[in-house]
Amino acid sequence: MGTEIYYFSGSGNSLVVARDVSTKLNATLTPIMSVINQESIENEANIIGMVFPIYDFRPPEFMARFISKIKNIQSKYIFALCTYGITPGQSLKHLEKTIKSFGGHLSLGYAVEMPQNGLGSGKITKSQQEKMISKWKTRVEEVCDHIQKKKTEEIETSILFFNILQTQKIRLIPVFFIFLYQVMFKGLDSLAFTSDEECTGCGTCQQICSQNNIELVNHKPSWSDRCINCFACLNWCPNKAIHPGDADLSIKNYHHPEVKISDMLKEKKINT
Ligand SMILES: Cc1cc2nc3c(=O)[nH]c(=O)nc-3n(C[C@H](O)[C@H](O)[C@H](O)COP(=O)(O)O)c2cc1C
Repeated sequence: MGTEIYYFSGSGNSLVVARDVSTKLNATLTPIMSVINQESIENEANIIGMVFPIYDFRPPEFMARFISKIKNIQSKYIFALCTYGITPGQSLKHLEKTIKSFGGHLSLGYAVEMPQNGLGSGKITKSQQEKMISKWKTRVEEVCDHIQKKKTEEIETSILFFNILQTQKIRLIPVFFIFLYQVMFKGLDSLAFTSDEECTGCGTCQQICSQNNIELVNHKPSWSDRCINCFACLNWCPNKAIHPGDADLSIKNYHHPEVKISDMLKEKKINT
């Protein structure tokens, strides 16, 4: 019995959401990466929460693998909270389908707006960031109340066009075009992570990578092929030395102000 919240976070937004909810609900908090390689994920909890960021208008790819391993999923009350920077789109509907395909049911899905941590993050002003962060704090109570009441059939979705207009993120549109141009004419490989001359070889990127995908070669990071695009290496680099290629995608180092690097390191995969 009880509540277990599984989370993943690259720059701390989803960690804060998961942490706030778990404190209010007296729930256990478990990093997804610490259990994802187990044969099956067993727990006594009758309520399961999933908290994660949105990547490319979808839940991260590893979510399907994680969900497939949850034992007795059909008997659990499941809620999901995704954090997003621009628009969650139909992400929670995708998650609902995935959960259904493994025999479970997503009862409640809320999208929480948080500062953008990837493409165009540099276009979001400090005061916009602060507003998003404090808006969540005023919503926690209500979200937890709905979970405690085991509310059902509420899955949030949104339409990109309205999000951009409503939240004055119109300045992100040129960044999207630069990104599209880069992908179409130079290929995705042109956006592979690199480090510049500011890199001191401190190894923070290697430590923070939840996939153990970074090695230091001659005191410089070298990425292997297990990247999940969480941007943790870039966002936590103390020297702002990591970039996805050389296109100007207005990415500025960001991490949630309430999260320390030591909190993030708890996410590291336990069973590699
Ligand atoms: C590679 C990548 C893709 C993203 N795609 C989207 C997206 O499609 N829609 C969106 O609203 N936010 C998107 N974001 C922003 C994150 O979902 C958002 O900032 C989230 O709160 C980050 O959570 P975290 O700090 O827990 O990692 C993306 C971020 C990254 C790094």
